[in-house]
Amino acid sequence: MKEKLNSIEHEALQLINTANDLDVLNQLRVRFLGKKGEITSVLKGMGQLSPEERPVVGAMANELKNRIETVLEDRKVTLEREAKLQRLQKEEIDLTLPGEPVIYGKAHPLTAVFAELKRIFLGMGFDVAEGPEIETDYYNFEALNIPRWHPARDMQDTFFITDEVLLRTHTSPIQVRTMQKGELPIRIIAFGRVYRVDMDATHIPNFRQIEALVIDKGITFANLKETINVMVKGIFGENRKTRLRPSYFPFTEPSAEVDVSCFVCDGVGCRLCKGSGWLEIGGAGMVHPRVLEMSGIDSEEYSGFAFGMGIERIAMLKTGINDIRLIYENDLRFLNQF
Ligand code: DAH
Repeated sequence: MKEKLNSIEHEALQLINTANDLDVLNQLRVRFLGKKGEITSVLKGMGQLSPEERPVVGAMANELKNRIETVLEDRKVTLEREAKLQRLQKEEIDLTLPGEPVIYGKAHPLTAVFAELKRIFLGMGFDVAEGPEIETDYYNFEALNIPRWHPARDMQDTFFITDEVLLRTHTSPIQVRTMQKGELPIRIIAFGRVYRVDMDATHIPNFRQIEALVIDKGITFANLKETINVMVKGIFGENRKTRLRPSYFPFTEPSAEVDVSCFVCDGVGCRLCKGSGWLEIGGAGMVHPRVLEMSGIDSEEYSGFAFGMGIERIAMLKTGINDIRLIYENDLRFLNQF
């Protein structure tokens, strides 16, 4: 039996060390170490041995098992390493070849303007407020000092759902909702979709506005002017000037239209600014004392300013897009230009 083990050892080691691939190695493992393998069959015959010989042969067989196990493992590692080396040699990489082009996504012009505005206002310590797109007449008009009989209702062609419920025509109702919370001072911006019955090259029925509201003790028109200045320079560039032109909104007094010096002609006059040198971007003013009082704020003690602007309008001016509908067509050939 010892001889048998010796000859198994001899044969196994020779075969394993000359095996050239992993499959062959596996077959050898089965042949020598498997349940029906050669060593097992030697162990099965141990019953015929004398009690003295049994442990000796048993130990020998176990030792041989371990030995073959180790040699198999070594050979496996060697074969694997060789296979890897061969593969690496075949897989030569030409580092001078041009790469596959990577297509980067980028922000839609509206998203980009939105992010820019948010950054600017958060930097000035503003919070972001929100409100519903389906509003009541009260928040959209009444509480902003636009009663039912008021001619200013015609400034905004409204989608009514019922007599009392409508699609908000501007983000200004968020001012009212914020004031009604009763926490002062207030320093918020609000972004959102607004709806108007309107459709041409520069108007669509569903567009977006940004609204700002600041209320505290001692807030003046100078604060409004400087806040708009910071925003305009931040979004359109350091060289842009701001102009506030007297205007009318029922919810502000005094009210102003906000103009930016034209960035095509720098104020000289051109086609974009229709010869005026200025581009209108939105409305602003000091919050009307009636609007403060209606939302429970003492207008003797507190004052504030507000402004609202169309985000599409800003994006169009910034990028030179001349038809608002292009912004929403989502044609990549168009969007990739920005
Ligand atoms: N809500 C106005 C509009 O959509 C814009 C506006 C004007 C907002 C003056 C304001 C403001 O906050 O003070 O036409």
